[in-house]
Amino acid sequence: MAFTISVLKETAAGEHRVAAVPETVKKFAALGAQVMVERGAGAHALVSDEAYRDAGAEIVDREAAIAKADLLLAIQGPDAGDLAGARDGAMLAASLDPFGKRDRIDGYAAAGIDALAMEFMPRITRAQSMDILSSQSNLNGYKAVLDAAHHYGRAFPMMMTAAGTVSAARVFVMGVGVAGLQAIATAKRLGAQVSATDVRSATKEQIKSLGAKPIFVETVEGIEGEGSGGYATEMSEDYKKAQADLVSDHIAKQDIVITTALIPGRAAPRLISDAQIASMRPGSVIVDLAAEQGGNVEGAVAGEAVEKHQVTILGAKDMASSMAADSSALFSRNLYNFVNAFWTDGSDTPIFPDDDEIVQGVRVTKDGKVVSERLLAS
Ligand code: NAI
Repeated sequence: MAFTISVLKETAAGEHRVAAVPETVKKFAALGAQVMVERGAGAHALVSDEAYRDAGAEIVDREAAIAKADLLLAIQGPDAGDLAGARDGAMLAASLDPFGKRDRIDGYAAAGIDALAMEFMPRITRAQSMDILSSQSNLNGYKAVLDAAHHYGRAFPMMMTAAGTVSAARVFVMGVGVAGLQAIATAKRLGAQVSATDVRSATKEQIKSLGAKPIFVETVEGIEGEGSGGYATEMSEDYKKAQADLVSDHIAKQDIVITTALIPGRAAPRLISDAQIASMRPGSVIVDLAAEQGGNVEGAVAGEAVEKHQVTILGAKDMASSMAADSSALFSRNLYNFVNAFWTDGSDTPIFPDDDEIVQGVRVTKDGKVVSERLLAS
């Protein structure tokens, strides 16, 4: 029996993505896998059951998809209870939110499911094409700017017309990782005047290269907010105070603020206070891309547009899912690239070695135990 990969239909409310597209189904089949897709899995991402079938997949109901799989693929990992009937030792590769949903990880261990948390992909060159955080954040950064423009009662570009001049919107991006860089690029393309900040000083040159202005704390000694793997670290109290002062002056002159700051394994850092919101001019818009991780902005609520001091605060939720066709294609390729890297030519099954850096990073449960060092250390 060929190695069986099953693609599950997402069950979370508002989740429109799907973990495989016809292109990746074909590629999995070319490796020698048998691919099963749960009926209707691609419906919200503009992929029909026929398209999967044409690509070589078998369309099955959920029960069969779960029961026959050697490897289950999903966007958001379902709870172990929803995977009843899975084979002992079946693998699950998905976004699992291991820090936020630790109970779920314990559930996989108890159920004998070997779970792979794709958001734990190490930030090394070899793993770049497997990184779901990057592929989805890129789209999030783009969409954040479009949503801001949609809610902003003014234009983004400067316009010189016979009836007078419309001035360009001022956009400030806080947190210049993958999402922030795309937000800067998108806002520039729309004609805004863009500035940006981050705790990692390496981003200064990246901001400049996109034609935006870097706004950085220069007064606190010994700042280097870059920790392992290119992630940010928690900053000192002195730094936080200097950053708040600098940002306060700057924010009061901005029309749009987009926040993207995250620190892995911790709540998102608070970057904007209610007083700073009050200093912005009426009609300004703030988009908090970290709203689901606790929020960078005081009062932001994930999935809602909150109005405070005549400023609209958009708490991002399911942004990548709102562009399900593109986000699914990218997520699917990340999953394929991961599996393909461990599938040697001519073999009939992928092998995920215990001593491989990527496997050690993403594997959270194995043989009935939680094995992720990152999770066990938290
Ligand atoms: P992220 O989503 O973890 O955080 C977003 C941004 O917020 C980061 O730039 C971070 O420095 C910043 N931030 C955190 N605390 C802040 C604060 N208090 N004030 C202002 N900014 C703050 O980061 P993301 O987007 O995932 O990427 C970070 C870096 O890692 C990038 O340089 C990216 O190119 C690199 N990367 C490398 C990969 C690879 O080599 N395989 C894969 C993914 C990212």
